[in-house]
Amino acid sequence: MNKKRGGEMMKRVIRVMTLLLGCIGFARQAEAQEMTTAMLSTKYNIAAGKETYNRACALCHDSGVMNAPKVCNIVEWQPRMAQGMDSLVKHVINGINNMPAKGGLESLTLAQCSDAVAYMMSQCETAVSAQ
Ligand code: HEC
Repeated sequence: MNKKRGGEMMKRVIRVMTLLLGCIGFARQAEAQEMTTAMLSTKYNIAAGKETYNRACALCHDSGVMNAPKVCNIVEWQPRMAQGMDSLVKHVINGINNMPAKGGLESLTLAQCSDAVAYMMSQCETAVSAQ
């Protein structure tokens, strides 16, 4: 086999593999799976997030008062998670509907809010893998 044909063969193999991955439904849950705890913990401090969560967020998100999405009810969270971390964190900082800005604790920093969201997401993953 000459060099040129080898290259074409490789291209074909790559094309078939891409197709296969698509068939398995790889893309379907990619968004949610992208936020795995392993990934989250490289970017966020989950332990610090838990502490902030208990202090400022649990009040509503443990019980689900005022329709706050419960931690973690994956059915409630999946569509929210699909918008991505940046957007979720922005809504925490600015507030959204019945969700007060920073959960009502004005002194929270951006990092504290982001860590708290990451902690909430990590709890969702636990809920999924326990099923
Ligand atoms: C006073 C109750 C309350 C507190 C305290 C509170 N939340 Fe919420 N939160 C809500 C409610 C209600 C919603 C649903 C808002 C909506 O989408 O209508 C919500 C939604 C959210 C969402 C989803 C936003 C989206 O874009 O879908 C995130 C993330 C969140 N809260 C994080 C936090 C974090 C982090 C804290 C603590 C710093 C916190 N919340 C504290 C009531 C609260």
